[in-house]
Amino acid sequence: MNEIQQQIEQLRSTIEAHNHAYYVENRPTISDYDFDMLLKQLEALEREHPEYDDPLSPTHRVGSDLTSGFEQVAHVYPMLSLGNTYSPDEVDQWVDRMEAAVGRQELSLVGEMKFDGTGISLIYEHGRLVRAVTRGDGTQGDVVTANVKTIRSIPLKLQGAGWPDFFEIRGEIVLPFENFDRINRERELNGEPLFANPRNAAAGTLKLSSPAEVERRGLDAYFYYLLGENLPYDSHFANMEAARSWGFKVSTAMTRLHSMAEVDAFITRWDTERRTLPVATDGLVFKVDSLTRQQQLGFTAKTPRWAVAYKFAAERALTQLRFVSFDVGRLGVITPVANLEPVLLSGTIVKRASLHNADIMHGLDIHNGDWVYVEKGGEIIPKITGVELSRRDAQAEEVTFVSHCPACGAPLVRVEGEAAWTCPNKYHCPPQIMGRIEHFVARKMMNIDGIGEETVAALYNSGKVRSYADLYDLTVSDFLALDKYAQKSAESAVKAIADSRNVPFERVLFALSIPNVGETGAKRIARVVGSIDELMSWSAERLCSIEDVGPTIAQSIIEFFADDDNRRAVERLRAAGVQMAVDRQDVATSDVLGGKAFVISGVFALHSRDEYKALIEQNGGRNVGSISKKTDYVLAGDNMGPAKLEKASKLGIPIIDEHQFLAMIGQ
Ligand code: IVH
Repeated sequence: MNEIQQQIEQLRSTIEAHNHAYYVENRPTISDYDFDMLLKQLEALEREHPEYDDPLSPTHRVGSDLTSGFEQVAHVYPMLSLGNTYSPDEVDQWVDRMEAAVGRQELSLVGEMKFDGTGISLIYEHGRLVRAVTRGDGTQGDVVTANVKTIRSIPLKLQGAGWPDFFEIRGEIVLPFENFDRINRERELNGEPLFANPRNAAAGTLKLSSPAEVERRGLDAYFYYLLGENLPYDSHFANMEAARSWGFKVSTAMTRLHSMAEVDAFITRWDTERRTLPVATDGLVFKVDSLTRQQQLGFTAKTPRWAVAYKFAAERALTQLRFVSFDVGRLGVITPVANLEPVLLSGTIVKRASLHNADIMHGLDIHNGDWVYVEKGGEIIPKITGVELSRRDAQAEEVTFVSHCPACGAPLVRVEGEAAWTCPNKYHCPPQIMGRIEHFVARKMMNIDGIGEETVAALYNSGKVRSYADLYDLTVSDFLALDKYAQKSAESAVKAIADSRNVPFERVLFALSIPNVGETGAKRIARVVGSIDELMSWSAERLCSIEDVGPTIAQSIIEFFADDDNRRAVERLRAAGVQMAVDRQDVATSDVLGGKAFVISGVFALHSRDEYKALIEQNGGRNVGSISKKTDYVLAGDNMGPAKLEKASKLGIPIIDEHQFLAMIGQ
């Protein structure tokens, strides 16, 4: 292999590694800008050396968001991407090319926001939404109609008049900053991994199997492209205005532009003004307005010639560090936090940025009073990316990591090989106690509505609550004594606490805050051991026989129950009526399905797909992935795709709906 070939291969594998992190793991490892630069570099090399072309090169594919579980259909018109530019100069060059092709007098352009979400294609027939399809691999995508219907800003039946009988409209599904922040706050409280940015959150949400959860998240959608045979006008701008009149959300930033000067002014304006928008944008898009001209200009293999994207540079601000504080989490982990002079970044005021852990903090070499760079890039959680050394005071000292817990004064400990310092004073350190109570009441655990972070702090400070077990002794007057509560809200808080006694044992186990025991772990352990008494009697060795339980988790469990305070809290919870054993009726293990093979397809109303999978297994059935001769039943929800339907009928496999299925298992 010669040097060029090696370089090409190296680039291909680097790009594919980033693709995998992004599309498969939902965990981007590189900024969009850097990724585009790699791709451009590869494209250039491949252009110069066509002899090394490979049909499987990442330049020959558009990233795929196909996942199993949704029906796939082919797009009527392929969903292409846009060519990217990174400077006004490059946009000007594109305008030049358009002028050369179309004639300066003739040229009319449209400038738009480039929304940073996930692309969607909607099909309307006779004024009604019939199908919503994700971009997928550009040729075919997932049918997500049920989820899309939950987005209130999308018209299900069109208003006004003048729409073609059949058309497609393309847009971007986005998660507004406000909802993104709310969801991440909830996820943090529930101990779930945070979404890195609104784009990932929007894409992930669109693929959820529960439309109800999709609705709760609060997606939105902006539209920017109308396709079809009989569109009302020969102008993109006029068509989008028509779409707006039919009920679609079309950004008011969309503007007609007639010269390079107007294009440049549009860029200057939105480079800053986009920060005032409620949703993430990662650039601007310029399009030739006339559809006739668009057709003449046509497409390259992957992008239209008549449109171009201009990408914003990552957002960065310089501000002064006020001080570094140290947060204590529910499990005692100490997180250094940079407290900053407030600075405006992408529409929000940033006052704090996480420094993650001691290693990262020291790596940045932060000194007291430093001027630091804060960046958002695609990510919405701000991070400190560097220090402006030219502004450092010569006398300034390096910020040191605390040696003792800032809340309780205990000397910190660090487990060999781990990045985190922790406070070992688990049961007497206030933020740890409050953190555990917050965790206990959260939605996925005991789901005690009406008690949040503030109430927990107030209850703790009043001395009424020192452990989650104390919650069950609270009375209406205890709540009335806190500022925030009136008679009605106090009564409903007490009722919510009482209701939580019905929460199944597996969630109680998760709610206890046993270190290293997360949601899935708690579920698995609860099902195997069956009760808290059993759990307390199991040895570490026996615990390790449970799937996915290793020595660390086993040791955490043993240590947890070795502690007197914990055992007392558990006894008080038991006395209060909290579930301390699995309700075997819940996981009724019957054999009525007698080993029959089921394929689940579509979207359901009564239970989630996962719940149906569990029900099948609990009743002696088997879940299989795809329809074959060996399938016994297809459990079909809404939107089961035509291909599956046809295959099932061809093979004569009975298709049952959820009611029929539930009747089969006697529910
Ligand atoms: S036009 C054939 N307009 O960006 C061109 N796309 O990087 C069709 N996007 O796939 C796309 N805002 O998901 C267009 N105002 C806008 C857009 C936009 C966001 C997305 C879209 C597209 C991707 C290309």
